Amino acid sequence: MHKHELVVVANRLPVDQHVASDGTRSWVTSPGGLVTAMKSVMEDVDSAAWVGWPGLTDEAIEPFEADGMSLFPVFLTNSEVEKYYEGFSNGTLWPLYHDVIADPNFHRTWWDAYVDVNRKFAAAAASVAVRGGTVWVHDYQLQLVPEMIRAQRPDLKIGFFNHIPFPPFELFAQLPKRNLVLRGLLGADLVGFQRERDSINFMTCVRQLLGYRSAEHEIHVPGIGVEPDRTVVARAFPISIDTSVYDRLTKDPAVLKRAEEIRAELGNPKRIVLGVDRLDYTKGIRHRLKAYGELLAEGAVDPHLVTMLQVATPSRERVDAYRQLRDEVELTVGRLNGDFAPLGRPAITYMHRSFNREEMTALYMAADVLLVTSLRDGMNLVAKEYISSRVDCQGVLVLSEFTGAADELRAATLVNPHDIDELKTAILHALAMSPDEQRAAMESLRRQVENNTVQDWADDFLSVLSEGGERNSSPH
Ligand code: G6P
Repeated sequence: MHKHELVVVANRLPVDQHVASDGTRSWVTSPGGLVTAMKSVMEDVDSAAWVGWPGLTDEAIEPFEADGMSLFPVFLTNSEVEKYYEGFSNGTLWPLYHDVIADPNFHRTWWDAYVDVNRKFAAAAASVAVRGGTVWVHDYQLQLVPEMIRAQRPDLKIGFFNHIPFPPFELFAQLPKRNLVLRGLLGADLVGFQRERDSINFMTCVRQLLGYRSAEHEIHVPGIGVEPDRTVVARAFPISIDTSVYDRLTKDPAVLKRAEEIRAELGNPKRIVLGVDRLDYTKGIRHRLKAYGELLAEGAVDPHLVTMLQVATPSRERVDAYRQLRDEVELTVGRLNGDFAPLGRPAITYMHRSFNREEMTALYMAADVLLVTSLRDGMNLVAKEYISSRVDCQGVLVLSEFTGAADELRAATLVNPHDIDELKTAILHALAMSPDEQRAAMESLRRQVENNTVQDWADDFLSVLSEGGERNSSPH
């Protein structure tokens, strides 16, 4: 088998399967930020591969090439999807790592499946990486993979990046099997996080639970038996977006025309307020609707002049907390429209579906205000996409303090989304901002995003990994 210099390991493959009405199947690149980020990195190395789950499918799929990438599908049974993906990843870790906004559940069978599936990913990665190559493992679904790869392939440089927050010790300590998770991560040479705070939380957990020493960003991991001691670096690498995509799309006449059409389709309101989220309880959609609903009820926002558009991308629909959220959001939007919508025009347009990048850019260009009200969010790339789309330096970003993005985007209108009064004030302030005020804030935000693109993020991570990997590289 052909071996690869760089192997990306992520829960999902970078392509989605599309089944046409006549049953023919094809693979289409997924729209996510990670995919765009890694694609540009993968183009720069001679030979790169991606190991991931192809999504729900009832058959094992052989390795294949798509979009210039070598893809290695990991087949998961229905029971593994239920216990590893919906269970331990999204029923235990996701809520726990996001400050227990929803109750984490735990079942021992979920853990067992998590271990088994992580082993499958590790075995696939170990079998496709060239001697001395680099493996980059992504996200909370695969925290055991670094240690499992190292056990088979000590010659590899192993990096791990956590896209979601890493919780404070008091919360992490609740996780059953917590020490095994920490040991899994410490199999990497470099463990990257979105925020400085996340890396500090991680190092605190390692110190308190495993008793390992750390100084600055380096953790001393004692070897067991004949294994040498190792140094693991834990550091923040705030992820970003590929700004060249928006540079291009914002000049595309079809996208510009579409932005105009969107305004017209929404009835040419004076102001458009936009929300764009995966339909997830961490995104604070309930809080946003509560605040907006109160503004409508008080008459502070006139639905004849201002309209709200909420795009809620379907997500994890078989997990209970997500079903409940959907019911609640749809009930609330229905009620608010029943109470406040003018004839023939909703006060809140709700779209439960996903859109391609062209349509999203047109939406960003059409919207006067973007509301990002996450209760906890690793980074929030929607905020950065909005900024990158505002080549006119207009538009207001209302941004929750509880996003990784808020660490960088200080010129946004920052809010505590738990404080409904504060959120209402921020929305009114955003609606009233003059073009000059908007420009001043947006120019500063755009500089910030342009100075740290996703290519910078990936280059930075891989160069720190290559230094750390050299130091720890094993002679055998
Ligand atoms: C977050 C996670 C990703 C995940 C994505 C979509 O951004 O950090 O790892 O892929 O959500 O969720 P899904 O469960 O559909 O992959």
